[in-house]
Amino acid sequence: MIAIIGGGICGLAIGWRLAQEGFSVTIVDKGKAGMEASWAAAGMLAPLIEAEHAEEMLLPLAIESRKRWPQFAAELENFTGINVDYRTEGTLQIALHRDDQEALEHRYSFFKKNNFEIEKLSGSQVKALQPHLSHNVTGGILSPEDHQVDNRLVVSALLKAFKKAGGILHENTEVDEICTNNGRVNGICMGGEKVVVEHLVLSAGAWSRNIPGIPKDARPPVRPLKGQMLALEMPSKMPLLDHVIWGPGNAIVSNIYLVPKSDGRLIIGATVEEMGYDTRITCGGLFELLRAGWEVLPSIYDLPVLSSWAGLRPASRDDAPILGPSGVDGLTIATGHHRNGILLAPITASEITAYITNQKVSPLIKPFQLNRFQKP
Ligand code: GLY
Repeated sequence: MIAIIGGGICGLAIGWRLAQEGFSVTIVDKGKAGMEASWAAAGMLAPLIEAEHAEEMLLPLAIESRKRWPQFAAELENFTGINVDYRTEGTLQIALHRDDQEALEHRYSFFKKNNFEIEKLSGSQVKALQPHLSHNVTGGILSPEDHQVDNRLVVSALLKAFKKAGGILHENTEVDEICTNNGRVNGICMGGEKVVVEHLVLSAGAWSRNIPGIPKDARPPVRPLKGQMLALEMPSKMPLLDHVIWGPGNAIVSNIYLVPKSDGRLIIGATVEEMGYDTRITCGGLFELLRAGWEVLPSIYDLPVLSSWAGLRPASRDDAPILGPSGVDGLTIATGHHRNGILLAPITASEITAYITNQKVSPLIKPFQLNRFQKP
């Protein structure tokens, strides 16, 4: 039996793929599956627009996963009958001031130099595309292939797919300890009982380093990075946007994003805060989100607020995911997806499944192994 600790989008997608391959798979989640970072996310599939400075190493993996998303979404929808609202309008990053414009031009040159599909727009072209944006827009870059999906629907669909493929799910179940024998993982203890496993996948997001029993060198260096977000209700007859918009942020909102959903929600995110496991909503967080959101799209002023929440990104030491062997026999790692868990779910699922099946690390995930943090 293969056990997966963590029923977030990556754990569920890996579980679904492994079950499809005929393995007997159990997922154990300390709470309700899919209700942490996977639920808190905005569902952007935007490797180009979301690329951060010095993250070039991540781009090939992220772009390959983006390429796999349409097929992944279609397969999930066909298998479960759940529509995951995959939307293809694209993502638009805008500038509101001269400094943002310079940063935008710099990004554009980088993408162009590397032959990525990206289009530069003037302020008036941006306004023609999304007329409700601020009159202060000085320009934009459009990434037509950076799509989006409804992450909460994806989680519901994956839960159904995993179970339909024969997977077993234990929710509200803490793993008390991972058991090893002669340096090999051979079981997990939960509820006072030891369950024998042939293989274990650690995919517990921001909690991945805390599970007792993981040998010290195999502990993934992952910490929680808080993101506060909120949802507004767009007028049903006049959604204010159809593209995903990225705009300039401030001290705790490095970039503001506005993500229109087909059910009428307009999601605004997100703060980036080192607050441990604290998921409380703060006045400052909401204030900065609303202020930056309003500067980009002034008409949010009149919209009803539907909800607010905070999620914990599993951030590794270099912000890239940790995928593949752990150095301990029988233990595979799939965590540390930071800002990109939704985007990277298809590739994480297929490459981890391939690794467990044939014990070969694919060239795609080779740079993302735990051994990059381990001392030689
Ligand atoms: N991927 C969006 C965020 O982490 O805020």
